[in-house]
Amino acid sequence: MITVISGTNRSDSRTLLFARHYARLLEELGQEVELLDMAELHHGYFAGKMYDPLGNDAQLVKWQQRYILAADKLAVFVPEYNGSYPGVLKLFIDGISVIDYDGNFGGKHVALIGVSTGRAGNLRGIDHLADVFAHMGAWVLPNRLPLSRVDALLTGEELTDAGTKKSLRQQAEQLIAA
Ligand SMILES: Cc1cc2nc3c(=O)[nH]c(=O)nc-3n(C[C@H](O)[C@H](O)[C@H](O)COP(=O)(O)O)c2cc1C
Repeated sequence: MITVISGTNRSDSRTLLFARHYARLLEELGQEVELLDMAELHHGYFAGKMYDPLGNDAQLVKWQQRYILAADKLAVFVPEYNGSYPGVLKLFIDGISVIDYDGNFGGKHVALIGVSTGRAGNLRGIDHLADVFAHMGAWVLPNRLPLSRVDALLTGEELTDAGTKKSLRQQAEQLIAA
């Protein structure tokens, strides 16, 4: 199973639109897919006993089991927030790491995609995140994909830019083959 993560909790996120497109694409390519939308996870565990193994947050534990431990591979979409990936994603990674470290990312292939309205496509943010995943034992695909000026790639909520569709498909095929 491949988990596709939309790495922001912002409502009306464009990142989610790209993550949905990718999830559909993987399904069309015959994969079993779960879509983790970071906006649907409450982040109240931040104020609780986040680092106390006895104080595990019930939703966080459930999400870790369903979306991370059960995944063979992951594709992670991250918008550019102030030159990097969103803090809520790091919060989630840190939160699940203290509940159960083994089985999260170790030995799993991870595809990274950056999303920005600016021109960098969050290239720096996906590099930052690649370091974190490598630290946790994941194999990050060399094809890190920055999507820039994303407003111009969408028509309403649909990805309509042919070149971007092609790049995403190419990366999805590489992830499946990895
Ligand atoms: C807190 C915040 C910081 C942002 N910082 C940047 C930035 O540094 N560079 C950039 O190109 N866009 C930046 N943006 C705009 C995002 O690239 C834009 O919202 C894009 O649609 C992807 O994010 P989304 O999934 O929240 O829509 C920022 C947006 C937010 C909410």
